Amino acid sequence: AHRPLIAPSILSADFARLGAEIEAVAGHGETRADWVHVDVMDAHFVPNLTLGLPVVQSLLKHTDLPLDCHLMIEDPDRWAIGYAEAGAHNVTVHAEAAGDPVKLAKDLRAAGAKAGLSIKPGTPLEDHLDTLKHYDTLLVMSVEPGFGGQSFIADVLEKVRTARRLVDTGHLKLLVEIDGGINADTIEQAAEAGVDCFVAGSAVYGAGDPGKAVAALREQAAR
Ligand code: DX5
Ligand code: ZN
Repeated sequence: AHRPLIAPSILSADFARLGAEIEAVAGHGETRADWVHVDVMDAHFVPNLTLGLPVVQSLLKHTDLPLDCHLMIEDPDRWAIGYAEAGAHNVTVHAEAAGDPVKLAKDLRAAGAKAGLSIKPGTPLEDHLDTLKHYDTLLVMSVEPGFGGQSFIADVLEKVRTARRLVDTGHLKLLVEIDGGINADTIEQAAEAGVDCFVAGSAVYGAGDPGKAVAALREQAAR
């Protein structure tokens, strides 16, 4: 198995000191995050509002950790490209919101980013298999998108297992990422189902030492 990737979500960080909050997971060795997960919400696709491109542009100047931008927004066909052009490592759009997800993936890649496709808990994986051939990551939501600190929906692990099988048999070539309710109690079942990259918000930023939380989650995921 490969080394599991841990992506702390700054949704659970202190928004007044985001630079310092990212530094808390940007140390050396096992306490260093692999990606920083940035939740962009527009109060339309989800019932919550967070931050947008200006904040991401500022964060990119303050960290060399790869930014994993999760766009929970309507009309990503219009807005996603800006995040790729700004220098985000990974730009993930929602399958439920994208008008032309294949074109979107091509445009994101042409702008130098990895392209991610996310599906909500109730969205079947089967509906998007052809589209996923054009993507670098599949983000399986394990809570309804919109808020941090919700409980893990274990049913989605079936989709993770299917995706894992398709990757391992060469039918898809992407990283499987999971987002929502990942913590010390749930990460092992997600790892066992075949997740490559684990987003964790409250489990990292709700901990006394976010760096230590990153190391502990990675260790658990590697079992
Ligand atoms: C929820 C966001 C998640 C959120 C996860 O819509 O997409 O990234 O930050 O938070 P936890 O890990 O607390 O469930
Ligand atoms: Zn997210």
